[in-house]
Amino acid sequence: MERRRVLSLAVLAGFGLTAGACSSPSAPKPAPSGSAGRLRIPPLAEPEIEAGGVKRYALTLQTGGSTGTWGINGAYLGPTVRATRGDRVRMHVTNRLPEATTLHWHGMHLPARMDGGPHQMIEPGATWTPEWTVDQPATTAWFHPHLHEKTAMHVYRGLAGLFLVDDPHGPHLPAEYGVDDIPLIIQDRTFDDDGELSTGRVDGGTYGLLGDTVLVNGARQPAFAVRTGLVRFRLLNASNARVYRVGFTDGRRFDVIGTDGGHLAHPVPVDRVKISPGERAEIVVRFTPGETAIMDSRGEDSKSANDIEEEDFTLLRLEAAAELKRSPALPAHLDGAATAAPPAGTRVRRFVLTGSEINDKDMDLTRIDEVVPAGALEIWEIDNTTFAHNFHIHEVAFRILDINGTPPPAWQAGPKDTVFIPKKAKVRLAVQFGRYADPASPYMYHCHILRHEDKGMMGQFVIVEPGTEASVPRTLPAGHHHT
Ligand code: C2O
Ligand code: CU
Ligand code: CU
Repeated sequence: MERRRVLSLAVLAGFGLTAGACSSPSAPKPAPSGSAGRLRIPPLAEPEIEAGGVKRYALTLQTGGSTGTWGINGAYLGPTVRATRGDRVRMHVTNRLPEATTLHWHGMHLPARMDGGPHQMIEPGATWTPEWTVDQPATTAWFHPHLHEKTAMHVYRGLAGLFLVDDPHGPHLPAEYGVDDIPLIIQDRTFDDDGELSTGRVDGGTYGLLGDTVLVNGARQPAFAVRTGLVRFRLLNASNARVYRVGFTDGRRFDVIGTDGGHLAHPVPVDRVKISPGERAEIVVRFTPGETAIMDSRGEDSKSANDIEEEDFTLLRLEAAAELKRSPALPAHLDGAATAAPPAGTRVRRFVLTGSEINDKDMDLTRIDEVVPAGALEIWEIDNTTFAHNFHIHEVAFRILDINGTPPPAWQAGPKDTVFIPKKAKVRLAVQFGRYADPASPYMYHCHILRHEDKGMMGQFVIVEPGTEASVPRTLPAGHHHT
């Protein structure tokens, strides 16, 4: 059984190579069966430059073959989109799957009609072409399907990719993609005896499927050849439910330089970062020539925290060359702003999380739950009355004010869009909303444990011109889809 699983993973890795889903600038050899192989670096999506300088990216959602995976421009996962602040981008998202789906830009600040949530369905054979101007701090965002009640399965099959935003005025950081700027997409999966993705429990149980195999960029326990003294890793938890506490087996410290929504004000040294589904962390790790290091995930020592982060996994083997290229020193100051305390009188909204509801309501595509004036700063208070959840808000950047009354650790003080909420915990967020007013197109907020999202643990908000809140219709027509 174990041998078959290893073989199936080699097959999956092989699909990635032959179909071009993931390829490394260092031209890896196909993984021999039974050994883990090289880390695959998702290729950068090459944009076409259209009239007016618009960058057009083509993303095709397609099936991946006999292992049951789905991918974007390939058999599993997608390319990395990289754009610069100020760019006008147009995405051509073509659905070649047998089912309708969507593609949501998680972490992007953009108009709600471009957001790719459950109102922007793409039918099989159709192409959706959202367009917006990238105007936000440098960050590691991502994209994945976001359809009503079926997000878990579509993401599990492999539809996900990174969307990196660069800011030319930002600090000098390792930024050579695939060399010292390395994306790590972490996902748990289970394969059956025939080497196919096992999907049976994706829609069942409290958390859906918790896979026994953890993949990094689509391969199990791959190795990366370190060639520079400093390496920046962009960690994305693209799992359906698992929480990881990422660090190294030797306990080495490293610096966190950014979270979901952008950089911190300065690097923060830690020995573990905990990321729940949807969360990102950018870290910079130091290496000495010739060493080998193992990146892993370790469960919390106390089992009180929750039940989705207790297992230990090996993630990545790092093999440093005998000679390493010198990296420029990590800047002492980054371009993230320090947290400003919300002024007295700031509006507070309260959300109570139960098993799979928010404020005792299931998701309803025709109901607007919250109406927010454009540009508002609000406090959102999330009170979790049950087992572990997390909470993601589209379009915004927020700061964690406190968790059970205690400010978060320094590395979590940066701009975020998703926060882990341990069981029975209360979290307060200072949320900065954007300015794209549209009373008829909602953004989502939800638990990013995809089984919970699919079960209805999601609500909708609209951003409107300040002063018009009271006159905004609170219902949308049924079957209302912007495409
Ligand atoms: Cu990553 Cu509402 O999504
Ligand atoms: Cu999102
Ligand atoms: Cu949840």
